[in-house]
Amino acid sequence: MTRIVLLFVLLSLNYHSHADLIADTCKKSEYPDLCNSTLRSDPRSAKVDATGLARIMLEAALTKASTTFNQAKKLLSKTTEPVLKECLTLCTDNYKLIIEEIPKAIQNVGSDNSEAIHQADLALTDVDTCESIFSEEPNKRKSPLTANNNVVQHLVAIAEDILASLG
Ligand SMILES: *[C@@H]1O[C@H](CO)[C@@H](O)[C@H](O)[C@H]1NC(C)=O
Repeated sequence: MTRIVLLFVLLSLNYHSHADLIADTCKKSEYPDLCNSTLRSDPRSAKVDATGLARIMLEAALTKASTTFNQAKKLLSKTTEPVLKECLTLCTDNYKLIIEEIPKAIQNVGSDNSEAIHQADLALTDVDTCESIFSEEPNKRKSPLTANNNVVQHLVAIAEDILASLG
């Protein structure tokens, strides 16, 4: 009887420590709400350590990057306007790199966290280059990719925050 009670206490402590891990991890990140909603929407988050959370965050970033890559390709196929075409070509080229850099980051999570951060940094720079090309004078225009670019950037930044806390 005592053993069963003890087991129950240990299981519930374990459950609470996982719940707290997500809360603690996200509280310390740059975008706590996006961090929380992203991790809680993936059932694996409840069972992994901080290293696992970093991996899940990068996988979410990769999914969003693929969506954005497809969005850019689709817009490019529909545009004939030369400047916009140039901008979207740069973005599709950059997203081709980003969807290679994020998997490289994922591969290094847990074994070489500073390399994972380095690859994530490359991806952040490439997203930034895509977004800022639209504000270049004299053909400044509204970027059609802002919303998705922002989400990709925020998810990668959160992953970097988690990776940095792992040391
Ligand atoms: C985290 O997300 C869950 C479910 O999406 C929500 O119930 C909870 O209030 C959120 N926590 C914080 C600290 O935002």
